[in-house]
Amino acid sequence: MKTIVRDAAQSDNPNALDLAVEEGARRIQRGELVAFPTETVYGLGADALNATAVAAIFQAKGRPPQNPLIVHVDSSASAEALAALWPPAARRLAEAFWPGPLTLVAHRGALIPDIVTAGGPTVALRVPSHPVAHALIRASGRPIAAPSANLSGSVSPTLAAHVLESLGGRIPFIIDGGPAYNGVESTIVDITGTLPRLLRPGPISIGRLQEEVGPVERLGPTGAPDGPLRSPGLMSRHYAPRARLEVSAEPQRRMEELRARGERVGIICSAGGTGAQELASTGSADALEQILPGNAEDWEPMLYIALHALDAAGVDVIVVERPPDSDSWMAIRDRLTRASAPAD
Ligand code: TXA
Ligand code: MG
Repeated sequence: MKTIVRDAAQSDNPNALDLAVEEGARRIQRGELVAFPTETVYGLGADALNATAVAAIFQAKGRPPQNPLIVHVDSSASAEALAALWPPAARRLAEAFWPGPLTLVAHRGALIPDIVTAGGPTVALRVPSHPVAHALIRASGRPIAAPSANLSGSVSPTLAAHVLESLGGRIPFIIDGGPAYNGVESTIVDITGTLPRLLRPGPISIGRLQEEVGPVERLGPTGAPDGPLRSPGLMSRHYAPRARLEVSAEPQRRMEELRARGERVGIICSAGGTGAQELASTGSADALEQILPGNAEDWEPMLYIALHALDAAGVDVIVVERPPDSDSWMAIRDRLTRASAPAD
């Protein structure tokens, strides 16, 4: 299959965005797959109410059928219409964070096909803030089911080029809307229980959630306190680059150790951290050494870019400086834990 990439931001064509969105919307209406930018990562969309179209998402990604999809809609009212129940916590979180990088898991309404929820009783809903995502949902007039637009298990795409590299030849159409600016996947909160429960940390921190709704449970469905947070269908290894990934408190030392063994090693560390200082002192900075700004909000938009770049450079191992234990780093810690898990 030939994959068409349509640039929504051509400087010489003020209508490029509208044209790309219109073509994407027609394709969604016809039951085709369309990759599109959101504020978190690129999504691979299909009409959420068309079970055949949704099946093509699982096929293109090689995604296990027991892993449910997020449904993207244009407003809180549209989300509520697809849920069977919309408790006060849902209303408050939606008001505070939509449109934006928050996904709410609610009891599923009757319109949602089984394949979207993997047969489960709940549905994940999100109102994205990215103008292209919003326009595509509006123009198609459909709720859009969309996982991240990458082969199952690998690092999510934050650029159209990442989508093309992972799914080129497997999907018909990509809307290139520039970089996905948050850079990590949405925060997922289950609001079907007595207390809201964080299923996947993301750009909206647990602290921000608690400011809006009070206590939020941190336990994943596995029940292990502070263990890996899980959504159904997620293998423990996920968000993983091709290269082996290691997290280290002494990334520079670990890198040298591995290089001495003859491995081709890339490193990702924080500016201002000891790893970066040592790299600067050896004066060896090159493309295999990705130094990111020193706080979590700055790491989020850059981590996947760095992982994709090191994979493209063909390294055997990526050593990442261990992030701090504070809540603001929770999403980064979660993704690194899963990216470094052994394959199961
Ligand atoms: O930021 C995002 O959330 C991106 C953009 C495209 O919106 N999407 C995304 O989708 O990351 P995906 O499929 O890569 O990850 C969605 C996660 C999966 O771990 C899935 O198991 C979980 O959401 N999920 C989906 N439906 C669920 C449900 N009903 N209950 C619990 N978890 C659910
Ligand atoms: Mg994904």
